[in-house]
Amino acid sequence: MSTNWETADVLKTPMEVCWQFDYEIDSQRLRNLYSKAKRQQWDAEQALDWSLEIDPSRPLIDESRFGMAQLPFFKALPQRQQETFRAHMTAYQLSQFLHGEQGALMTAAALTHAVPDYEGKLYAATQTMDEARHVEVYEKYVRKLAIVYPIGRFLKDLIDKTLTADHWVKIAIGMNMVVEGLALASFHNMRRSTTCELLRSIVEGVLRDESRHVAFGSVYVGEAIAQMHADDREDIAEFAFEAVRAMMRGNGGERRGRGALLLADPGFLEVLAKAEIEPEQMFRGFQEAREQGIKVRPPSDQVHSFRDLMMPALVRVGAVTERSRALYAEANIPVWEDRTVLESLEDQETGEIEFD
Ligand SMILES: [Fe+2]
Ligand SMILES: [Fe+2]
Repeated sequence: MSTNWETADVLKTPMEVCWQFDYEIDSQRLRNLYSKAKRQQWDAEQALDWSLEIDPSRPLIDESRFGMAQLPFFKALPQRQQETFRAHMTAYQLSQFLHGEQGALMTAAALTHAVPDYEGKLYAATQTMDEARHVEVYEKYVRKLAIVYPIGRFLKDLIDKTLTADHWVKIAIGMNMVVEGLALASFHNMRRSTTCELLRSIVEGVLRDESRHVAFGSVYVGEAIAQMHADDREDIAEFAFEAVRAMMRGNGGERRGRGALLLADPGFLEVLAKAEIEPEQMFRGFQEAREQGIKVRPPSDQVHSFRDLMMPALVRVGAVTERSRALYAEANIPVWEDRTVLESLEDQETGEIEFD
């Protein structure tokens, strides 16, 4: 084996590593999650039919669910350019799934090192294996598309901040709540919008695992935050706010708009180049749509990551404090608290994730 250092990216972390010698299981819910994770392990090579070929001329995403297609400038493009853009945009998105999963693999391993409880370590080890499987399935799928886009700048920054945080609770917040909140919503939406049988099966398998990961955040992190000194809790709350703000930026939640932010990402610029669309042309397209009051509206059954998953999860575990509420207000980020969707998607110990 020879390591390719050109494609590697090395980070240093201040994280403490913790042994635990009591071997006691205090949290029954965590023990249940661990047991369930063991029972539900699946082998991606066996469980899925990888022989399925992907027809590059057929869109992988249902066209009616493709947001950009609602913009007048996009509709005016020749059919061929629209198709090329759609195909590459899908590859770009799936590449983000792949890189995000590698980030999750490393954060889960970091949690295994750092959490101070025995059952926490056991659980985190199962999540590490789950994430390895997720990297494997997305890598295999993206390889079929024959193109891998680089990780988006905002996603990379957020995962790096999470990986190099100095406390395991910050890792669990950055990954299990913020990044996985976003991933859970994207996977659900991909499951509904893809026309590819294989991709749908992949996403369904991954979603089953992810529901446990989000549940871990709520079970374990909430207890840890409740036991913290008030100053440490504020430190955690500030980290959570920064992570949410970074994600909102990446998703165009701030005033700059989604278009300007996408156009700042080198990977997205490659997508445009492939479709022979000038960045300036797209920028004007976004501007025109704004001036005409046209908003890209997601289908009504889409899960909204911030509103439905991320913010309610953070509020529930106590990672939003009175002081940090002021930060959210200042940044114009609403603190959504309705847990209905979150609780319907995450693992409830008794049942499997529901696919509607
Ligand atoms: Fe994952
Ligand atoms: Fe995960």
